[in-house]
Amino acid sequence: MSYNLLKGKRGIIFGALDENSIAWKTAERVHEEGGTFVLTNAPIAMRMGSIKNLAEKTGSEIIPADATKVEDLENLVEKSMEILGGKIDFVLHSIGMSVNVRKGNHYTDMNYDFTTKGWDVSAVSFHKTMQVLYKKDAMNEWGSIVALSYMAAQRVFPDYNDMADNKAYLESIARSFGYFFGKDKKVRVNTISQSPTPTTAGQGVKGFDGFIAFAEKMSPLGNATALECANYTLTLFSDLTRKVTLQNLFHDGGFSNTGVSQEVMEAFTKDEE
Ligand code: NAI
Repeated sequence: MSYNLLKGKRGIIFGALDENSIAWKTAERVHEEGGTFVLTNAPIAMRMGSIKNLAEKTGSEIIPADATKVEDLENLVEKSMEILGGKIDFVLHSIGMSVNVRKGNHYTDMNYDFTTKGWDVSAVSFHKTMQVLYKKDAMNEWGSIVALSYMAAQRVFPDYNDMADNKAYLESIARSFGYFFGKDKKVRVNTISQSPTPTTAGQGVKGFDGFIAFAEKMSPLGNATALECANYTLTLFSDLTRKVTLQNLFHDGGFSNTGVSQEVMEAFTKDEE
């Protein structure tokens, strides 16, 4: 269903790798809602992914950018304004990667070069993106910037490893930069803390099948899908949420406020019956 929520709005969408990506679903939905955008991803991901199909489908252009490189981001923002014909109304940062997770290094046995790379890609890239947008005065007033997070920023999920720290850092950057973006440019900045979702990044986390199943049973409404996350993101890009800023918004079917559910209790009491 389309509500024309984003008619006339222009944006940049980071992180669509394949059709499972949260950014991919978001791009499809933004297109349906009348928004126009530039797609971007790391040059290496572009060779692996199928982003061209998404670009064709949504009538968008692709500009490669490594989100850890300020010069790539500067080029991205300048070109996006040229292509889209004006300043930007919305930005989705949908980027995460931990080398320690990829290599299977335990949290108590980190390689700190990998740790540094992980926080640069997953958190500081968000600061870099916003700083470039801010310095170039590239955002329209009442624009909206969203990054995606996970609840391991607040609570322990042992196998989430250093991504937990990266997400805590990301959420803090959203608040800190959001203050200045709000004061100086009337732009809002939020993070959405999403349910576990079967994507390339999600499935890279050890024990993913276990904790997606657990979260499904714990959440009164069940896990939120990538498409549902896209829909929630659209509301934050729309004019209906202009005064929502500096927030970390849980989009998790109620998981984050549930102590225990009937289904989880039953799994532990079966043997006693
Ligand atoms: P995904 O694997 O489809 O997307 C991650 C993206 O990050 C990829 O497109 C990848 O190319 C991009 N990326 C990595 N390094 C980059 C760099 N240097 N420059 C630019 N882009 C780079 O996976 P997903 O799940 O759609 O991830 C999107 C966001 O959602 C991430 O921030 C992730 O942490 C977050 N998230 C995912 C959850 C899940 O369970 N899948 C749960 C909660 C949050």
